[in-house]
Amino acid sequence: MNRRNFLRTASAAGTVAFFATAPVAKAVAESMDNSKLMGFTAIPASTADTVIVPEGYVAERVVSWGDPLFPTSPKFAQSNDSKAQEMQYGDNTDGMTFFPLSEDRAVLVANNEYTNNEYLYKHQGKNITADDVRKSQAAHGVSIIELVKKDGKWQANVDGRLNRKITAYTPMEMTGPAAGHDLLKTAADPSGKKILGTYNNCANGQTPWGTYLACEENFNGYFAASKEVELNDEYKRYGVKNKDWGYDWWKHDDRFDISKTPNEPNRFGWVVEIDPMDPNSTPKKRSALGRFKHENAAMTINGDGHVVVYLGDDERGEHLYKFVSKNKYTPGDLAANRNLLEDGTLYVAKFTGKEGDLNGQGEWVELSFGQNGLTPENGFNSQAEVMIFARKAASHVGATTMDRPEWVAVHPDNKTAFCTLTNNKYRGAKETQPLNIANPREKNPYGHIIRWAPKGGDHTASEFDWDIFVMAGNPEVQEGLMAGTPNVNKDNMFNSPDGIGFDAAGRLWIQTDGKYSNEGKFAGMGNNQMLCADPSTGEIRRFLTGPIACEITGLAFSPDYKTMFVGIQHPGESLAPSHFPDGGDSIPRSTVMRITRKDGGVIGA
Ligand code: FEO
Ligand code: CA
Ligand code: CA
Repeated sequence: MNRRNFLRTASAAGTVAFFATAPVAKAVAESMDNSKLMGFTAIPASTADTVIVPEGYVAERVVSWGDPLFPTSPKFAQSNDSKAQEMQYGDNTDGMTFFPLSEDRAVLVANNEYTNNEYLYKHQGKNITADDVRKSQAAHGVSIIELVKKDGKWQANVDGRLNRKITAYTPMEMTGPAAGHDLLKTAADPSGKKILGTYNNCANGQTPWGTYLACEENFNGYFAASKEVELNDEYKRYGVKNKDWGYDWWKHDDRFDISKTPNEPNRFGWVVEIDPMDPNSTPKKRSALGRFKHENAAMTINGDGHVVVYLGDDERGEHLYKFVSKNKYTPGDLAANRNLLEDGTLYVAKFTGKEGDLNGQGEWVELSFGQNGLTPENGFNSQAEVMIFARKAASHVGATTMDRPEWVAVHPDNKTAFCTLTNNKYRGAKETQPLNIANPREKNPYGHIIRWAPKGGDHTASEFDWDIFVMAGNPEVQEGLMAGTPNVNKDNMFNSPDGIGFDAAGRLWIQTDGKYSNEGKFAGMGNNQMLCADPSTGEIRRFLTGPIACEITGLAFSPDYKTMFVGIQHPGESLAPSHFPDGGDSIPRSTVMRITRKDGGVIGA
């Protein structure tokens, strides 16, 4: 693999000069410590049981799993029951958005992806009762908590009137092409439109009309069968099996027993739109955005007013998608914008290029019933079926298999978008996932970040140019492609990029969910971390390191970019020795941290 190609400008047609000029290894080296965008001093890797940030910065706790959401909420205790958990911040904080309400009032909306049974219950999950299931379901979903700015710092406000816990049993409405389809009907819901709950909400998105998008990811892991069923192709493609991943919901909630409720899995794997400004609003599942293991929903308003949402499907060998709304965004017209995600067109990405290059061209292929072979002869009978089984449709049109697409982020200049491809042990090892132009590394243990520029700066265009922004790696113990691209060095190495997001100045923030053994091919990387990158030079600096056995996920900013919120998920997972954040011999708890600068400046500048 030619290192120079990686940095070569990706677009002969001149849409976007990616890495501006050719002699890049040199350019990258010279730009180190020289970025105009980044003004902080990088920190070393860490294995400490704490959050570390650069000199001049402070990291403080905002809210943890089990903290009160209401004045009447019980205090956190491991012995809390489901009623308590319904009134407390959920577990495993993940994607989140800060919605400003005024100068000193805001609302923070955050996903609670899953639970750690080893800490959720005193019995560590060995003896799950009906109330334990209810507690687990209440610890999942979305937490909405108001923030108030006091003494110059944004703090959780249990008295906030918008505070709300959305759970795995909160009533929701299905909208779009799949609403009411037979495949969504159950004995409890003959309408196929009234779904209970959302869970395994990984990352998120937000709309310019003030709503929040919670994305359902590994929904399959909660289904099991009390009486073994023969698994059809659709179950198999989405990973639904006779056995669950240990949550045991199916033992006390028939919805999760596929021998009793075979269509229930079709009711999850969607993007859910939530209005955080109305605590009584009914969340809406948006079936036009397709059903898969959603990571996040990165929305941008295209130059012509169409709403474009980029969507990753986080599974080895799955795909990258794009939704384009049918109607256009009207600034300031809440009523007109409210249902823009109900109707539109879904596309899936196909990457092409010259072998050996780390860049090329690409195409968005339409997933519409009757188009591109998505016809009854090929097993697709309606647009509803194309959306419910979007993965099958994507395979049918020849979409590129990717190394686990996680978050997508659109640069504030609206000219490029980035997607993390976290890792993929099957790449090149499974017949169905041979090496390809955009996923060129055998078993990809470190992951990479791909970037694309839509043709003519038009996000609705069917063509794009792409390159690989960074291949993570370990230049200390590896060679060639495994060492990583030239912007990876011994001082900033990391693996498994997952959460990404931009601030207004165009700094790219990268969060990791990877191997934290700090040994072998991961030696020198330490605990999971957050880095900052300058997209124009490729330089990457380590900004934050997390406590033991956590992942860093979830990123939000105050409108002045002087406060950053970062999620610390599952510290001490699998009983690793973490006591974050309470210390002593406490059990570890997922926590949202607030990062500020001692001098009150903009984060990262
Ligand atoms: Fe929930 Fe793909 O991470
Ligand atoms: Ca993730
Ligand atoms: Ca991940």
